[in-house]
Amino acid sequence: MITLEDIRANEKIRKLIQHADMTLKQIGYTEHGFRHAEIVAERAGRLLRELGYDERRAQLAEIAGYLHDIGNVVNRIHHAQHSAHIVLSLLPEMGMDYDEVLDVAMAVGNHHEGEGDPISDISAALILADKSDVHYSRVRNPDTVAFDIHDRVNYAAKDSKLIVADANTIELSILIDPDISSVMEYFEIFMTRMIESRRAAKFLDKDFQLVINGIRLT
Ligand SMILES: [Fe+2]
Ligand SMILES: [Fe+2]
Repeated sequence: MITLEDIRANEKIRKLIQHADMTLKQIGYTEHGFRHAEIVAERAGRLLRELGYDERRAQLAEIAGYLHDIGNVVNRIHHAQHSAHIVLSLLPEMGMDYDEVLDVAMAVGNHHEGEGDPISDISAALILADKSDVHYSRVRNPDTVAFDIHDRVNYAAKDSKLIVADANTIELSILIDPDISSVMEYFEIFMTRMIESRRAAKFLDKDFQLVINGIRLT
């Protein structure tokens, strides 16, 4: 069975992630490279494990998490769908079971807010993990923080954690430095992501709780 280890070791995938991130760097987007891939893979897999899902479902969520943004190599617009098409050709080539390939492609193709829906356990975990990765280290050039709200909110986010808080609740907790960005600014740009996260949690039969600087907001 193909695992995240095999995915990480694949030369084509290594290049895809590098080039996808280079593309986004050119158009001024935040980091979407190995760091983001690893974090989303880890959080998506851990979420399903902690919720008691089958170990293989958690492994497939890890793989979907690692590969979800490779489609940026084709174009940022519709990048989720591009990622899915690449997955559909690449994973069978690596010898992955075709039902599993389809599970990964479905999740990857539906991860982007406004262009997809939580359509499986793997997909819901991927959406929650992806939207949770707001972090100052993703800002490529701190000079842009003064005039780019997106960079400013990311730069203000000193820490983010995605946890199963209790039997009914998935919690995203973010630490924002109010000297850099206000909580209002966070909502201004991340409202759609939070709505997607709530829908994903609902798919997993859980409530979604957002906590900013220790204050429960939902
Ligand atoms: Fe994405
Ligand atoms: Fe992403």
